[in-house]
Amino acid sequence: MGISKEIEGKLYDAAIRARMNSCSPYSEFKVGAAIITQYGKIYSGCNIESSSFGLTMCAERNALSAALCEGERVFSAILVVADTEKPVSPCGACRQLLYDYAPDITVIMSNLKKEKLEMNIKDMLKYPFRPE
Ligand code: THU
Repeated sequence: MGISKEIEGKLYDAAIRARMNSCSPYSEFKVGAAIITQYGKIYSGCNIESSSFGLTMCAERNALSAALCEGERVFSAILVVADTEKPVSPCGACRQLLYDYAPDITVIMSNLKKEKLEMNIKDMLKYPFRPE
């Protein structure tokens, strides 16, 4: 879907690095994500859990938030990685937020075996909420 192997490798490395900082004492499920802007800048995020479980933030949303907070508005791809049998797939909440701010983004799902599955956000969230 237009993401070069070189960029994919950079995203993977950044997501793996972010995953190392995962704050997941409750689930012990570490997730890392890295998002790249139209101009090639990479922002990363990890999952951060709370003792009040519902406040937990996913890695994908933290990566997206980090980029949005820096003023970025156009994104080309996000890679998410976790230690899963099959490439890890973003939750529904993350899909909606990605759709809201990056409706054309390519989502690369991955795991520690470096298996990858690539899909456009529009194919992952068929009936998104739209305020209009
Ligand atoms: N998690 C993510 O970070 N991304 C996902 O797409 C799914 C789930 C996190 C939330 C929680 O910290 C842990 O994984 C277990 O659900």
